[in-house]
Amino acid sequence: MRALLEWQVEMGATEAILDTPVDRYALADEAPKAAKRTPNAPPTPVVVTPAPNIDAVAAAREVAGAATDLAGLHMAMAAFEMCELKKGARNTVFSDGNPNAQVMIIGEAPGRDEDIQGKPFVGRAGQLLDKMLAAIGLARDAEKAESSVYISNVLPWRPPQNREPTPAEMAMLVPFLERHIELAAPKILVAMGNTPCQALLGRRGITRLRGNWTQVHDLPVMAMFHPAYLLRNPAAKREAWADLLEIKAKLREGS
Ligand code: URA
Repeated sequence: MRALLEWQVEMGATEAILDTPVDRYALADEAPKAAKRTPNAPPTPVVVTPAPNIDAVAAAREVAGAATDLAGLHMAMAAFEMCELKKGARNTVFSDGNPNAQVMIIGEAPGRDEDIQGKPFVGRAGQLLDKMLAAIGLARDAEKAESSVYISNVLPWRPPQNREPTPAEMAMLVPFLERHIELAAPKILVAMGNTPCQALLGRRGITRLRGNWTQVHDLPVMAMFHPAYLLRNPAAKREAWADLLEIKAKLREGS
């Protein structure tokens, strides 16, 4: 049994998706039988339905652009069927926190806990993120815009085995992210890790990007180490603290 489980994990099956096992051999009996062909009869033509020639990026841009508020954008994302990641996810993880906040934090993608709960940053990395924010007087559940944060991710669906998104997946999800930022209209963006830096700035290399303000869509962006990276590399918390102080100072400037 253990060897079988290990083999399944190696094949990428890391989640139980049903409460009870399904006997696929029993199901096979119920499957429609292939029609027998009479010898010399002409082969039955195979009808290939062409895949609809829809450009996923253009489609994403269109539905995201049509959303006039955050609830509408959430619905549009949840109904978007052109990204394979959606098929393996339990939930469309849209956002958490105060949509009126001055600070919008963009993470990478939901992990296991986020996929189950349907909210971003609720696992170990999220707990560290909450502590980091508290250190500069911010909280996702604060009512006042100036002391709260709004949190989302580049990807709303958990990638299998938490893999990196492909360029095609990124390209079709960026229009949603851009509309999300427009509708939330924060004063400051915080990009946590390489994936949001790639999505927002078109660049990776968080070690060099972090700690500097850049500008995207007329908004200041601070790139920071991802809290999951900080859990693995506690020595980097020093730099993260410096970046948090930068954010605090920027918020003071604006108030
Ligand atoms: N890491 C992220 O980038 N986002 C989450 O929501 C959770 C972990």
